[in-house]
Amino acid sequence: MNVGIDHIATYVPNRYLSLKELASARNIDENKFLIGIGIKEMAVPSPWEDIVVLAANAGYRVMKEAGISPKEIGLLIVGTESAEDRAKPTATHVHSLLDISESCRVYDILHACAGASYGLLSAVDWAHSPKHKYALVIATDIARYGVGTPGEPTQGAGAVAMLVSKAPRLMKIKELSTYSKSTYDFWKPMDQKYPIVKGVYSVQCYLNAVKACFSKVTINKNAVFIYHTPYPKLVEKVHAEVASLMGEADNWRKHYADKVFSSNIYPSRVGNTYTASVWLSLVSFLETCYEGAIIQGISPIDAVKQHEGIYIFSYGSGCGAVLMQGELMDTWPTMVRSFQVRQALDDRRRLTVEEYEQLLETPALPMQIDKFDGSHFKYSGVKNEERQYSRISTD
Ligand code: CAA
Repeated sequence: MNVGIDHIATYVPNRYLSLKELASARNIDENKFLIGIGIKEMAVPSPWEDIVVLAANAGYRVMKEAGISPKEIGLLIVGTESAEDRAKPTATHVHSLLDISESCRVYDILHACAGASYGLLSAVDWAHSPKHKYALVIATDIARYGVGTPGEPTQGAGAVAMLVSKAPRLMKIKELSTYSKSTYDFWKPMDQKYPIVKGVYSVQCYLNAVKACFSKVTINKNAVFIYHTPYPKLVEKVHAEVASLMGEADNWRKHYADKVFSSNIYPSRVGNTYTASVWLSLVSFLETCYEGAIIQGISPIDAVKQHEGIYIFSYGSGCGAVLMQGELMDTWPTMVRSFQVRQALDDRRRLTVEEYEQLLETPALPMQIDKFDGSHFKYSGVKNEERQYSRISTD
């Protein structure tokens, strides 16, 4: 059975900060951020744009573009590590905003940045049953470390929604290997605003997980390699390790350029999106490949034939990792045509460092939603201890 991802949609906030300006404000050489970390721009959410709003926008788009009614969704899973409540799932708010049926199974999965990937694999298992049709899996997060911290240049925000079905028009997907080990590399105690991070150790844990997962398979060096991307420079280091596992240690830079680089383009303009990060990297590869083929006047289907499948590696601190394999369907260009993520990134509004700091430190700051913000939903604060959400557009 060809169970997999029928369609993907992405939502990123309409405001961003240039890391060149952040470096200048922090008195740091800009090349540390632009080259040493590999991030140029970071997405900054507005006060009315929490993880529910990010997720609902991505979910709304994926169903609309795929031509699927909310009533056809039988399973809704939200992967996030930015939840606002310890009992009421984020997915319940998304379920309500998207008008999904009451007969739908609705829950969150928490495993740091890997939650949505585990959710996707659960949805794939679920979709194998003859009685089940469409599942909706949404990765949504706001990555924050605080002003002046080493993690600050790796902040970001965004959501990626994936529609899972038995007859996917985008790609088949399956699990190849998995790895789990209890670590304290990055964690979020309930009473703290920002995560605690052991930066160097977190990188080591990621590298251990990637080596463990790839060591369990016979690696096809002609495939594309998509990785969880806390920051693009780490993906270069990770790929150098994977390249040595497949006997390409001396050639890793060229291999990275051919098989990885295009997946790093959007993460370098958005920052870390935790659960959504690996899926934003996949979107970056697919849309870049599609647009490149159109510019060159060749068929996107032919353009992708140089690659033999797609490895997708998801990592969550704490820690857990899973290596998946995707295989594009011949209909993939039809689905990717509607992504329009590069355009959305190009159209964003640039913030000053002062505006960004106000948004980061005083999230209650009132801010009007501009008509070009592109959101269909908004968060408007807490009333009687309940978070308030509403739809602001029906188009
Ligand atoms: N020009 C070019 N490069 C420069 C430079 C300059 N002027 N100045 C410094 N650099 C380079 C450094 O040499 C270094 O490169 P290498 O990694 O190749 O050595 C790079 O810039 C970063 O410099 P530092 O190591 O000094 O950076 P830092 O300590 O200030 O911060 C970090 C790095 C620890 C990763 C920090 O960004 C952080 O804490 N991030 C959050 C944690 C994280 O993302 N961990 C990743 C693994 S965990 C995970 O994947 C889960 C998740 O999403 C959180």
